[in-house]
Amino acid sequence: MSMSSVVKLSGIRKSYRRGPEEVHALDGVTLDLKKGEVVALVGPSGSGKTTLLNILAGWEDPDSGRVEYPSAPGIHPGELPWRDIAILPQSLGLIDEMNVRENIELAARLPEGPGVKAVREKIDGLLGELGLANFQDRPPAEISIGEQQRTALARALLLSPRLLLADEPSGHQDSAWAEGVFKTIRAAAKQGTACLVATHNEELLQFVDRIIGIRDGHLVDVEHPGLRPPEELAAQVVERSQAASVAETRGKTTPFRPDDLRSKFGPQS
Ligand SMILES: Nc1ncnc2c1ncn2[C@@H]1O[C@H](COP(=O)(O)OP(=O)(O)OP(=O)(O)O)[C@@H](O)[C@H]1O
Ligand SMILES: [Mg+2]
Repeated sequence: MSMSSVVKLSGIRKSYRRGPEEVHALDGVTLDLKKGEVVALVGPSGSGKTTLLNILAGWEDPDSGRVEYPSAPGIHPGELPWRDIAILPQSLGLIDEMNVRENIELAARLPEGPGVKAVREKIDGLLGELGLANFQDRPPAEISIGEQQRTALARALLLSPRLLLADEPSGHQDSAWAEGVFKTIRAAAKQGTACLVATHNEELLQFVDRIIGIRDGHLVDVEHPGLRPPEELAAQVVERSQAASVAETRGKTTPFRPDDLRSKFGPQS
């Protein structure tokens, strides 16, 4: 596997004003992500994970320090197309007016994108793999939050981006789907995508290549909980997720509608 650098950060600092107080969200972060690796970014709430992802994405600018994309020297990360940087934000950011399939197609539909026809097989593959095929015609408001999150992952991976920035991609998943999400990310890495995944999910950490800890805006070393070769881990995850999908098809899946929720838990009229 090539070990070429996809992005390098050096000496990144970022603070926010909150009233009289200055919050040092990032306090000198240096980081190098390589092609095809899956890196977990692990730290408590408020430690700076989302801020770091936002700076990598060019959604925010650091106060000081450098962000370098060797494949696109001199270009601001916020200007890079989805093929270079794809993002699964913590807030998901799906478009309400588009159904699941159209949301996933987004990067292909953009003027600089390859068009929907060119990626039809990839879309169908992602819909199947992430358990979304049955919901593809529904708007985000009519599927579960876990399904919305898997839709946002499929959208991010559609064009096999050089870099995936995923903020808590298993945050809304049960343990079987957390592994399904990991499997999809692992498959993208195998195709060359560098994946930076902010996560609280310790079960998933055994499946990543590298763990970076973050505390109060500083990167810290984290003990890896038993790293095994990625291929071996991937095989294990595939096996387990197949077992899970068999169990799922045995159980009855009831379509979810907002009306159902309201009639069960809403005010009684
Ligand atoms: N726009 C903002 N204005 C002021 N403070 C901010 C802003 N964004 C983030 N912060 C602060 O910066 C620090 C880092 O926040 P960040 O969102 O990066 O944390 P996080 O590690 O992603 O947390 P979580 O696990 O809860 O998502 C926190 O103290 C947060 O309150
Ligand atoms: Mg966050």
